[in-house]
Amino acid sequence: MAHDLLTADAIATGLDLEVTPMTPPGPVTAPGRPDPPRETSPVNFGRVSFAHPAEVEFARLLDFYRVAWHYEPTSFPLGWDGDRVTEMFTPDFYLPEQDLYVELTTMKQSLIQRKHRKLRRIREVYPEINIVLLTRRDYYELLARFGYGAVEITSLPESDIERILYSPAEIAERVAALGAQISADYAGRSILLVGLLKGVTFFLADLARAITRPVAIDYLSVSALQHPGPGVDDESEVRFSRDADIDLSGQHVLLLEDIVNTGLTLDFVITKLWQRQPASLEMCVLFDKRERRLIETPVKYTGFTIPNAYVVGYGLDYQERYRNLPFLCVLKQDVFHREHGARLAEINGAT
Ligand code: PRP
Repeated sequence: MAHDLLTADAIATGLDLEVTPMTPPGPVTAPGRPDPPRETSPVNFGRVSFAHPAEVEFARLLDFYRVAWHYEPTSFPLGWDGDRVTEMFTPDFYLPEQDLYVELTTMKQSLIQRKHRKLRRIREVYPEINIVLLTRRDYYELLARFGYGAVEITSLPESDIERILYSPAEIAERVAALGAQISADYAGRSILLVGLLKGVTFFLADLARAITRPVAIDYLSVSALQHPGPGVDDESEVRFSRDADIDLSGQHVLLLEDIVNTGLTLDFVITKLWQRQPASLEMCVLFDKRERRLIETPVKYTGFTIPNAYVVGYGLDYQERYRNLPFLCVLKQDVFHREHGARLAEINGAT
């Protein structure tokens, strides 16, 4: 199926909804009223608790088409008794790139009069905002048109996923913010990005494109010796299995890692890289599994601090698989047990 770009216009056109022209985002206040809309959950980093399964599906659909969204970010006062707010309305989604609020309802067509009234009222009080109501019929049409099947996860059965920690849109938003911060911090300088293979692949590709300074790119790969034998000292338990091509001396080196757990890998690499006399050396890590830290490492830029769980996706693997999932998720314990059982059966079968 062709994957059309899902835009607010497409949503509106496809569903024959009326969308008022886009206006630049800005503070919205009720005419003659002192109360600005209240921020209820500023940005949807981290887990989002959805009130309804249809909202989960809608968020997935938006993620699939890389449409950024915030869940219930703002509450709008709609009614007052003197200075006291008597009625509030919190639209389900806000799509920042489209500057569009979306209210989703799966109520029967005959029962949505109340919703329509709310939308009429919100448009009346806040004429600057753009909002659409997706009814159940609209919603199913949307799924049918933009491919319900296409949002299925094909490389990993959904039943093997315990939970999704960060969606593609959330990761993209955070990577863009890191890129902007790094670009500002390195004003007037060029950067040598050094990625630690292999998990860093997607992060490096996305971050490099979010950095507006001149960059050069190089890679390192480390491997741990599993069974150090006689004559193998501690330091040689970790070694470079692929070294950088570019001479690091005098360069502003930014070392990129997908994840830091114990900190042992990063500690080894940093020690080695300082010996090459770079002009500066900083660390940038997308996922920080802080609970597992054994050695403190001076990471300057961190994407997300994550719980101590087995995560895969966006470069991270389980036995070399699942790196290409566009999100970060926790694998269910059953997957390990099943795989372990299968391997044991294989070994037993082979002997
Ligand atoms: C991961 C990650 C880091 C390391 C961090 O590498 O890319 O290099 O683990 O763990 P630590 O803080 O406990 O040292 P992995 O060995 O999984 O290799 P990969 O990147 O090729 O998947």
